[in-house]
Amino acid sequence: MRAAAAAAAPWAGLALLWAAGFCAGDAKGYRRRVSLEYNPGWASSRVNLLHTRAVGLNDTLHYVWSTIGVPTVLLVYTASDSSSLRVNWTQLLSSSPAGAIRIDPADSVLYSTAVVFPRLWEYNGSNTSDLSLVKAGQVYPSYNLANFTWASLDGRMNETTLSADFQGSAQE
Ligand SMILES: *[C@@H]1O[C@H](CO)[C@@H](O)[C@H](O)[C@H]1NC(C)=O
Ligand SMILES: *[C@@H]1O[C@H](CO)[C@@H](O)[C@H](O)[C@H]1NC(C)=O
Ligand SMILES: *[C@@H]1O[C@H](CO)[C@@H](O)[C@H](O)[C@H]1NC(C)=O
Ligand SMILES: *[C@@H]1O[C@H](CO)[C@@H](O)[C@H](O)[C@H]1NC(C)=O
Ligand SMILES: *[C@@H]1O[C@H](CO)[C@@H](O)[C@H](O)[C@H]1NC(C)=O
Ligand SMILES: *[C@@H]1O[C@H](CO)[C@@H](O)[C@H](O)[C@H]1NC(C)=O
Repeated sequence: MRAAAAAAAPWAGLALLWAAGFCAGDAKGYRRRVSLEYNPGWASSRVNLLHTRAVGLNDTLHYVWSTIGVPTVLLVYTASDSSSLRVNWTQLLSSSPAGAIRIDPADSVLYSTAVVFPRLWEYNGSNTSDLSLVKAGQVYPSYNLANFTWASLDGRMNETTLSADFQGSAQE
């Protein structure tokens, strides 16, 4: 899986690309069953929460991508092929969302981590990902991703290619 942030002012996109079938590399052709779920348990497309579930033989990888507040990805690895995501939407959309997202059963969780994308930097350096090599004056003012307005993911997901296209525009 690859997550890429790209910018072409004044819009930015977070692209989420999955290798179709998400092969785990087993010689016998072991594959995970991957599915996408948009705003599970919430009948609105005003906010974006994308749940990808990759079920293996005895385990499940849950990825939760959200543009509620700052763009965030949550990864939870569980030792169960039937673990499920529970979202308390009332709490998630409140001012104290901590604990609004959990996995059931909680004791199946082996590992969890989160990545937050607070800012987006844009620079002129088509040949480098090493910011130290970029000349002064070629790094542009950064975007605060928390201030972005994100388009609804509704109609921007593809269950066949297991991809979703997050698009946001800056107001700064
Ligand atoms: C899955 O779990 C069962 C029961 O614990 C075990 O017998 C089996 O070997 C496990 N399979 C894999 C691929 O880990
Ligand atoms: C969801 O969160 C709200 C606010 O914290 C709480 O009052 C409610 O009981 C929770 N609902 C469930 C099903 O846990
Ligand atoms: C980007 O850098 C290249 C090479 O240093 C330069 O030729 C070009 O003018 C720069 N573009 C902008 C928009 O600053
Ligand atoms: C990037 O690298 C290629 C190949 O080395 C070179 O031809 C090109 O001019 C470089 N572009 C910039 C903007 O430095
Ligand atoms: C953008 O976010 C910063 C920091 O959170 C805040 O100070 C600023 O007012 C925001 N700008 C807009 C246009 O919302
Ligand atoms: C999903 O992607 C495939 C391959 O690019 C394409 O053929 C198909 O039309 C797409 N489906 C939707 C609903 O966009």
